[in-house]
Order: sequence, then structure tokens, then C-alpha cells
Amino acid sequence: MSLITRTSLLKPLAQIAAATLLMSASLQALAAPVELKFSHVVAENTPKGQMALKFKSLVEERLPGEYVVSVYPNSQLFGDNNELSALLLDDVQFVAPSLSKFERYTKKLQLFDLPFLFEDMDAVNRFQQSESGQKLLRSMKRKGILGLGYLHNGMKQFSASTPLVLPEDAQGKKFRIMASDVLAAQFQAVDAIPVKKPFSEVFTLLQTRAIDGQENTWSNIYSKKFYEVQSHITESNHGLLDYMVVTSNSFWQALPSDKRDVIKASLDEAIAYGNDIAAAKVNKDRQAILDSKRSKLVALTAEQRQQWVAAMKPVWSKFEAKIGKDMIKAAEASNRQ
Ligand code: SIN
Repeated sequence: MSLITRTSLLKPLAQIAAATLLMSASLQALAAPVELKFSHVVAENTPKGQMALKFKSLVEERLPGEYVVSVYPNSQLFGDNNELSALLLDDVQFVAPSLSKFERYTKKLQLFDLPFLFEDMDAVNRFQQSESGQKLLRSMKRKGILGLGYLHNGMKQFSASTPLVLPEDAQGKKFRIMASDVLAAQFQAVDAIPVKKPFSEVFTLLQTRAIDGQENTWSNIYSKKFYEVQSHITESNHGLLDYMVVTSNSFWQALPSDKRDVIKASLDEAIAYGNDIAAAKVNKDRQAILDSKRSKLVALTAEQRQQWVAAMKPVWSKFEAKIGKDMIKAAEASNRQ
């Protein structure tokens, strides 16, 4: 074949290739970005609410036009009763339930509900970042749920329509709890009546006096206005309310690995940001509640608090077998470092 004939054949081929490239580039430009849904049950002005918004802004800044993150706060999309099943159905890609809400999928996380386990948030952090804590992120993998990281909210306080100073003050009173058997046992230990209800219903239950009290962090008591319908808050710091940010294993593995790395790095950064907010909110939201004068603070003496510890700590032994003695020891050890 002469050089002239070959050149005249190659030319149209090159034109076709260029046109194909151009077409696929414009198709890509036209393709809608992939939507990642992040659903949660709390208000936006909370550690979790702020973390989710930070995650959105980081992902969209780093993967522009490829991914968008839609954040649904306040149980708008899914609530406590269906967010994990929605995750497994791929109706939502990220949720961050409290560690007390995974009982249907693993008993191992019951650890975090044991009353008076952690002395402070530094101890919580040390444990979560330890080998034992990181192992728990994978405790639901066989059920299709993957833990991507822990997020703090803080220590829980009791609130009620009467002052709770000693354990007997809780006797016969109804307390809303998250869906956790450990939390149920904790209230039964002081002869109170635990009522498992979703977070979205707590305010109305308190307002209508269908229940007498509840337990929560300063941030949730403030952002959901529980302090407006509870006359007393006992500063008990008796338990932990933290979160695990989870996704479904199948969704996560199907992501292109380079995108997955960017999304994970963005989440890690958003979690660090949310943790800083959680630390700041303890004092800020506590003070805002006290300033409102809607609710009185019950400060416990060391002796009074010790009575709560003595009444509630026996709960540990009931759950020890399922949680694992070694896990409990590892968590306790984080208090002494
Ligand atoms: C949450 O912080 O996600 C809700 C906690 C609760 O249900 O009390």
C-alpha cells in the first residue's frame, strides 16, 4: 500500500477516535454526580449534625461533579427503627447511630452502655483508638455493616420531672431509653421502669408526662429542648453516648478504590471536626441550659454518686459473657493510663 493511501485511511480513523473521546467526555460531563445519602436523627447544631455537614463539604470539594452528599437530619429520612435496615438495602449510604442502637446486629457493642464504665472522654477515646476498640468497628461485618469510625457526643446525664439525688428517687419512675437491654437493666437496677422509644418521640413523651425522665448528653438535652420540659437534670456522667459511623459492606467494596480513599479521608477529617465540637459543647450547652433557668441542676456529692455506682454497677455481670471479659478489662484499663 502506498504511503498516500495509508495516510488517507488513517485520517478518518483518527477522526473517529477523536470524536469518540469527545463524546465520552461530554457524556461524563453530562452524567449526574453519584448521590451519597447521610441520614441521622439529631439536630444540625450537634456534634453529629456538624460532622455530617463537614463530610458533605469535604467530599464535594474533593470530588467535584462526581459525588454529592445529601444530609438528612432530625429523622427526616430514617429514624432509630429503620436506619440500619435502610443502610443494608442501600437506601442510605451512611448513618451514625448511637452505640446503644446496634444490639440487633451485635452484642459486643453493649460494652459501651455499661454504667460507670469510663471515667471521662479521654478514657473513651483511648479505648476506641486501641486495638480492642478498633476491632469492634468490624464486629458487624458478617451482617453486612462496616464501622468506619467512632464519633463522640459525650457523657449522659439523668433528667426528670423531680430531683434525682439518690437511686431511690428513681424508683417507680418511667425513663425513656434507647433500644438497649443494658440500659433497661441499668434502670431496673434502681427499680425504675425503662421505656424503649425512638429519639424522635422523646420530647413529646416528656412534655405530655407519658414518661418521667430520660438520660442524654448536654448537647441532645439542649438541641432537642428536653430541658424545657424537665424540671431537674442530675449531673451524673453515668454513661456514654457516642456513635459509630457505619456503611454497608457491599456499597463500600463497590466504590472505586481511589474514590473510597478520598471519601474515607474526608470522613476521618469530619469526625475529628465533630469530636472538637463535642468537647466544646459539653460546657457550652450545659451553660445555656443553666442560663435558661428552665431546669435546675442537681450536683451530686461524691458519696451520693457512689450510691448510684453501687446500685447500677452489678448490671455488668449480666452482660459480661456476651460482651467478653477481656473487652471489659481493656475498657476499664483505659481509665488508668
Ligand atoms: C443520638 O444522639 O443520635 C440520639 C440519642 C438518643 O436516642 O437518645
